[in-house]
Amino acid sequence: MIINQHQNSRDLSSYEKNHLLRAGISPTEIDRYGEMPVEYITGKVEFLGKEFSVSPAVLIPRVETEELVELIWQDLSNRADQVNQADLAKQSHQLEPLQLIEIGTGSGVIGLSLASLLEQQQLAFQLTLTDLSHSALEVAKLNFQNLFDNQLNHGQLSFKQTDLLAEIDRVNNFDYIIANLPYVPTTRLNQLDSSVKDFEPLKALDGGETGLRLITQLLHLAKHYLKKTGKIYLEVDDTHTQSVLEQISPDFEIKVKLDQFGKNRFAIATLKTKKTWLT
Ligand SMILES: C[S@@+](CC[C@H](N)C(=O)[O-])C[C@H]1O[C@@H](n2cnc3c(N)ncnc32)[C@H](O)[C@@H]1O
Repeated sequence: MIINQHQNSRDLSSYEKNHLLRAGISPTEIDRYGEMPVEYITGKVEFLGKEFSVSPAVLIPRVETEELVELIWQDLSNRADQVNQADLAKQSHQLEPLQLIEIGTGSGVIGLSLASLLEQQQLAFQLTLTDLSHSALEVAKLNFQNLFDNQLNHGQLSFKQTDLLAEIDRVNNFDYIIANLPYVPTTRLNQLDSSVKDFEPLKALDGGETGLRLITQLLHLAKHYLKKTGKIYLEVDDTHTQSVLEQISPDFEIKVKLDQFGKNRFAIATLKTKKTWLT
């Protein structure tokens, strides 16, 4: 007797089964995709309650990255409170639009989620989404179209293909520089699950020998682009401790925050004051 004739040979988690079923794909149909992540099979991923398109040109957004957006949002909310207080006091001055840039936007989940929150709070902003990869930027643009119909009410959004900040004007005008750059140490790439190393773009993962190649470059460049009061928000590898990050960024105070799994995952960098330089 043959039982489970249509059972697929791949062991799917209940998340993966539900993900496929929501997209109208039966888990029994996916053998031909090998170990391909279900998000590439459906071309969709959910991030902070919104559906984004993904393709093999972009990293599949991780749950930790939702926490990065939430951290930045806590910070931005304080600014929203300032605006509300200014309104309440009927002060005539308007806050300048917030200037934000996301480096390595991939599918755009970080930048576009922040854009959505800023729109809800009616905060004026200018946001630039960048990536080295042209195909990744195309996915981010598609998501902007799908989520916002290419229109914002309170903000302005632009896309730029660039290696880190190379094509961005060197004026100290950013309030926030945000980046989830490739940070996996090269030696660890081979140890990743085949669903990651065989399908996700290497350029989105490989952070060089210690995982810090691009993060170091960015931290050296960023002081020419950040306002004195500006902040850099980074996602980092769990081996990137506070002291490791301090060694590569002499111009910045660094705070490392843990993710929901208790691992070092986020770094917030602020420019050192002159007083700090002297000590
Ligand atoms: C870890 S993925 C992050 C994607 C997305 N921001 C997210 O959180 O899901 C890193 C992204 O950085 C881009 N990237 C790699 N090297 C870069 C560079 N030198 N300058 C700008 N972007 C780069 C990759 O193409 C990729 O889209």
